[in-house]
Amino acid sequence: MLRIGPHRFETTAVLAPMAAVTDLPFRTVCEEHGVGLTITEFLSAEALTRGAQKTIDKLTASLDGRRFGVQIFGREPEPLQRAAEMAVSIGASLVDINMGCPAKRVVAGECGSALMKEPELAAEIVKTVRRAVPADVPVTVKHRAGWDDRNKNAPEFACALVEAGAAMITVHGRTRTQGFSGKSDLEIIRKVRDVVPDHIPVVGNGDVVNLEMYRRMRGETGCDAVMIGRGALGNPFLFAAIAAFERGGTAEENPSIAERRDAFERHVELILRLSAEKKHVTELRKACAWYGKGLHGGGQLRQRAWAARSADEVLAAAREFWSHFLTPTWRESLMERASA
Ligand SMILES: Cc1cc2nc3c(=O)[nH]c(=O)nc-3n(C[C@H](O)[C@H](O)[C@H](O)COP(=O)(O)O)c2cc1C
Repeated sequence: MLRIGPHRFETTAVLAPMAAVTDLPFRTVCEEHGVGLTITEFLSAEALTRGAQKTIDKLTASLDGRRFGVQIFGREPEPLQRAAEMAVSIGASLVDINMGCPAKRVVAGECGSALMKEPELAAEIVKTVRRAVPADVPVTVKHRAGWDDRNKNAPEFACALVEAGAAMITVHGRTRTQGFSGKSDLEIIRKVRDVVPDHIPVVGNGDVVNLEMYRRMRGETGCDAVMIGRGALGNPFLFAAIAAFERGGTAEENPSIAERRDAFERHVELILRLSAEKKHVTELRKACAWYGKGLHGGGQLRQRAWAARSADEVLAAAREFWSHFLTPTWRESLMERASA
């Protein structure tokens, strides 16, 4: 059970915010497979406030009243305040502030992980956002281990944020300078868990791609929940496996081809229903790459999807790919008939 302010989540797995990935279709597929909580990709507070339509379109509530978080980034109080209010106005259960993004354009604006070099300002930001939202909407922060190897200040940083009003801390155990290289450091996540007050959940993040790594993250760091990003691409089954494990049961971590195809088809259906038409081709291409990965012919499907010019063409390539696995071949059907 994950407790964040007034909320209780049964499954202690959270879908990581990922730009150009965790849109509403992706989040929905993960929710339907049992993830505890999903969070939108990071949204620029400044762009939201200015009314940038592209950014506003990404501010989406989960379907069927399911709870969700909105992640915002920025450093100026007014836009952050306004962006948080916008998140609450669409029903966000929590507002997460990004203090971990390593991207050059974000760091150049002294946002994202750059805020780890300014703990006082970071704490002010939490206070500002805290004041902007109702008391029952938790304000949470996701940050990294630190700026670089010599400045792994995550434990002190987290404490300052909690003192300022943060109700949950997520730590990606890499430094900003590491980007996505090396490994997520479980030791620093453990240190954060050790120093942050018990009633504030600490979420461990980085490199979890299966149930074993989920258990290791929980066991070695003592964290209250695990955030999963890249490991969920084309693999919502991981959330079902974690949910089943927590209930004391088991779920197959390696789904059958038919299950994969079904999840892919559900994802496609949601893309076609929920995404703007001009985005269909791009989003369908990504789905082909994610669900085909690791399967025989997956690379070829990816290439065909990327070469395709229309949604219909991408879908035709996908249909052919799955039917190759799922239509009984001539030899199999002969054997079936022989044994009947
Ligand atoms: C494509 C991509 C986009 C990302 N976008 C965001 C984002 O918008 N906000 C954020 O806090 N982290 C973002 N991240 C970082 C992830 O949330 C996560 O911290 C990181 O991928 C490590 O977790 P993982 O090993 O489970 O993927 C992104 C990561 C990827 C791969």
